[in-house]
Amino acid sequence: SKTTIAMLVGSLREGSLNARLARAVEKLSPETIAFEWVDIGSMPFYNGDLEGQRPESVTAFTAAIKRADGVCMVTPEYNRSISAVLKNAIDWGSKPVDDNVWRDKPIGMAGTSPGALGTALAQQHLRQILAIQGAYVMPGEVYLSFKPNTLITPTGEITEDSVEEFVGDFAQRLAAYVENHATSLASRPE
Ligand code: FNR
Repeated sequence: SKTTIAMLVGSLREGSLNARLARAVEKLSPETIAFEWVDIGSMPFYNGDLEGQRPESVTAFTAAIKRADGVCMVTPEYNRSISAVLKNAIDWGSKPVDDNVWRDKPIGMAGTSPGALGTALAQQHLRQILAIQGAYVMPGEVYLSFKPNTLITPTGEITEDSVEEFVGDFAQRLAAYVENHATSLASRPE
């Protein structure tokens, strides 16, 4: 059966450039990988008072992360950090501490923005956030200045060869990272 990667896009808008990048990553991944696009927009803001009975949207989200072999986060940069909606999803997943869905999870990240720094600073923040979760964060940086505005089509076709190669390399590395991680967990002594 295929290795599964949960795809989390940190922007909710229909025309999201990051969703385009996420579609490109999916297209450029090997056929051994099955992506599950996981909704992060339906959860309420984290509120400890809801812990007694977690909303359905939250339990659906954490179940999706748990069953995935790995995670791909494709996020915009909002004011030099990740989007609040992605942070909210990470916060829900991190609780309760003994059931943190991010622990030991292999995670790759990418992002794009029309600006020159193409989400580089947001990704630095995201690494910092994931470090405390005990996640395995894939080395390497994939941030992309989205220029021209036709760089990736709405269906995820990359229109520049060098960028396609760069994103394709990320997709291949992420697949190998998640697959190798699954193998090493399987061979762990009881
Ligand atoms: C932005 N944008 C932005 N871009 C950037 O490169 N660095 C930043 O710090 C910010 N800050 C920021 C804050 C907020 C609240 C918004 C709405 C936008 C611009 C952002 O990169 C641009 O809107 C992208 O198109 C957002 O990603 P999606 O929605 O296209 O995936």
